[in-house]
Parts: sequence; C-alpha cells; structure tokens
Amino acid sequence: MTSNVSTRPVARPVALVTGARRGIGLAIAEAFAAAGHDVAMTGTRRDDEAEAALARVAAAGGRVAFSAFDIADLAGHGAALDAIEAELGPIDVLVNNAGIGAVVRGDLLDLVPANFDTVIDVNLRGTMFLTQAVVKHMLARTPAHPRAVLTVSSVSAALASPERADYCISKAGLAMFVQNLALRLAGTDIGVYELRPGIIRTDMTAKVSEKYDRLIAGGLVPAGRWGEGADIGRAAVALASGAFGFATGAVIDLDGGLAIPRL
Ligand code: NAI
Repeated sequence: MTSNVSTRPVARPVALVTGARRGIGLAIAEAFAAAGHDVAMTGTRRDDEAEAALARVAAAGGRVAFSAFDIADLAGHGAALDAIEAELGPIDVLVNNAGIGAVVRGDLLDLVPANFDTVIDVNLRGTMFLTQAVVKHMLARTPAHPRAVLTVSSVSAALASPERADYCISKAGLAMFVQNLALRLAGTDIGVYELRPGIIRTDMTAKVSEKYDRLIAGGLVPAGRWGEGADIGRAAVALASGAFGFATGAVIDLDGGLAIPRL
C-alpha cells in the first residue's frame, strides 16, 4: 500500500534580520524563531554579545546563523548573502533593522558633513542596497513560503527633532524607499512594509532614558509606557505571515499612539 503522506522534513522559512545582536533586532529574531523560522542574524561584529544573542534565538527554536558585516560596506553584501543562503537556504523574509542614532546630538546648524554621511551610509544607503541584493535573490527563486521585506524606520521618519536631523532624514528617506519598493514588487508575492517604532527600551535609548521617562510620565505616549522589542517582534512576524499581502506598502505605527495628531 502506498501512502501520500511525505516523511521528508519540510524546510522552515528563513528570515534574515540585520542588526540582531541586541535590542529590537534581537527581539525580532527571537520572535521569528519562535514562530517557526530559521534565522540569519547580522551585526557589525561577532563578539560575546553576538554569541549570547545567538544562544537566545537558538533556544527559541530552529537553526540560526550569524553573519558579521558592516551594512554600510556595499562591497561585502554579496558574499554575506551567499554565505547565509549556503548555510540556511533561500531567504524568505528580510527584516531591515540595523541602524544607528545621530553621531552627535546637537544644534542642526553645527551638524558636520562627515557625521551626516555616517548616519545616511548605514541607515539609508546600506539598507537600501542590501535590500536590492536580497530582493534580486528572492526574485530568482520560486517561493516556498510567504515572503516579505520589512523595514524598521522610526517615528522620526515623520516627527522632526532638529538636534538629530541626520537620523530623521535617514528614516524619512527609508520611508520613501519602502514606498518605491512596494510599487516595484506589487506584482510579485513579496509584501513590503514599514514598521515605525516609537520610544523603545534598548541600548540606543539608554543614554536618554531619563528624558523619555519624563516625557512618557507627562503624557507623550498615550499608551503610557515604553515600547519593548517584543512589541516590534510580534508585529513583524504577523506582517511576514502573508496575511497582510494586499496591504503592501503599509506603514505600521508601533508607538503606543505617539504619532497620532491630537489636540
Ligand atoms: P541598538 O543600537 O540597540 O541596536 C542596533 C543594532 O544594529 C545592533 O545590533 C548593531 O550591531 C547593528 N548595527 C549598527 N550599525 C550597523 C552596521 N553598520 N552594520 C550592521 N549592523 C549594524 O538599536 P535599537 O534601538 O535596537 O534599534 C534598532 C532599529 O530600530 C534601528 O534602525 C533604530 O533606528 C530603530 N528604532 C529604534 C527606536 C528606539 O527607541 N530604540 C525607535 C525607533 C526606531
């Protein structure tokens, strides 16, 4: 008697999360692993923090890989992607999370070109061209799972902060990149979304946590609390599930109501 039930293991979908050594990226990586993905994590270096992050994501389930490269170094993207796909298989979900804050928080009139370039090179230029490379890989494959490109921008894509205008400009540029990519890929199976976090408790905000504590206590965030990485991770997994395919190009505010215009 023959059976039509295959005993071959079904490959898990693969998610690539940039900047997953800590913070929001690590929380996103954990969420994808828990949801049944194999996860490729990237960061600038493979240090003790990266090893600890890898262990946490592995504990959530599935296979994990770590690829150390500087996202601003476009020449390194191709080799890094080849190595990731050789280890885990084709990438189904790209999460553009890696990013840096302003090199110096200060008067916009004192912003120097070198610091502006540093922020743009990582947050916008590096992210955009890495995405271009990943999408070309995706389009060359037949989809086996729901596919998506998720980009973590910031409320700063729309809310001005003149003491870190370089960061705001990089995120506003990223928002427009997402819109263009969504149109370019609208006829494919690849959903394209922007995740716009508000004030999230991570190393990036640790230096200014007292300021944000005060602002949150004063009512800046209608939800009345800091965001956590897990708030972003849960939303990312849902968006990548395919359930939101017809919402390609959507901007998802993840900020406890911070960006809602109010009286
Ligand atoms: P974080 O500083 O804790 O983590 C950033 C991650 O990006 C690290 O793993 C770091 O290794 C990686 N990274 C930085 N530069 C890189 C480069 N050149 N190449 C490769 N990887 C690089 O920051 P956090 O808070 O977790 O932020 C993650 C993303 O969320 C960033 O894009 C940030 O702009 C955005 N975001 C954060 C908010 C917050 O309140 N923490 C609010 C809104 C957006």
